[in-house]
Amino acid sequence: MRIIAIANNKGGIGKTTSVVNLGAALAGFEKKTLLIDFDPQANLSKSLGIRECEKTIYDALVNEESPAIYPIKSNLDIIPANLNLTKAEQQLDPAQGDHHLLKEILATFNSVYEYVLIDCPPSLNILTTSALTAATDMLIPVQAEFLALEGLVTFLDSVKKIKRRINVNLEIAGIFVTRFDQRKVLNRHVIETLESKFPEMLMSRPVRENIALAEAPVKRTDIFEYAPKSYGAEDYRFLAREIIHKLEANSEESQEAEKKVLQ
Ligand SMILES: Nc1ncnc2c1ncn2[C@@H]1O[C@H](COP(=O)(O)OP(=O)(O)OP(=O)(O)O)[C@@H](O)[C@H]1O
Ligand SMILES: [Mg+2]
Repeated sequence: MRIIAIANNKGGIGKTTSVVNLGAALAGFEKKTLLIDFDPQANLSKSLGIRECEKTIYDALVNEESPAIYPIKSNLDIIPANLNLTKAEQQLDPAQGDHHLLKEILATFNSVYEYVLIDCPPSLNILTTSALTAATDMLIPVQAEFLALEGLVTFLDSVKKIKRRINVNLEIAGIFVTRFDQRKVLNRHVIETLESKFPEMLMSRPVRENIALAEAPVKRTDIFEYAPKSYGAEDYRFLAREIIHKLEANSEESQEAEKKVLQ
């Protein structure tokens, strides 16, 4: 089971959109996938139409209840969140090792899911630290804008600290650009800089700016249901394929899976 935290301490750059659509793409490739809403804004839950949930990730973390899993579609489930999760930021105490709780919860799903995607809040608080403690891998979405690079370098420094102190096995599966607009010189320039600074980490294609990606949550669904022929669907399918290739490259099963994916 690969646990992928999708994180960046910058807000509004496409984390939640990426969790929904990458999750749906992985499910489409027959990878059993669980989404975890780990942001008190609960945008992930809301954008998949889950509003009134009885049990959330908060109840699992703080009240030690077994989390309720909500099915979304074939191969895709979610553990939702709501505003309660804000309280966890105060209640969880890193000095008591509480940042390990999410990892313990997810360990119980080891034989059930192939991928777990965690939607992180836009800050490096105890929730993001918990996600990075539980994760085997992380994906960092960035927007190709002014100062994106400075923010990314600072964020990577914090991630390295967490890797050194808490989770030595954490790997950065990749950095990818979201809301890319080929017509904008600055967008192209930022991609070139990312290519030269992070040649190993930068995923080979950006996710383009695509209105359908912003519209799909209004219909409480993912891009593959809402607009299967859109750029957004194409880009998230490509990204999912690249992630499968990267993370499963060494396993035998993966070669079979990859054949299927590339058909
Ligand atoms: N590729 C895209 N093309 C067009 N709109 C996009 C794209 N990606 C994301 N958006 C839109 O940008 C806004 C922010 O995206 P999203 O909520 O995924 O960001 P976030 O990083 O999760 O934000 P937050 O930090 O608040 O959790 C949303 O309105 C979303 O629909
Ligand atoms: Mg979000």
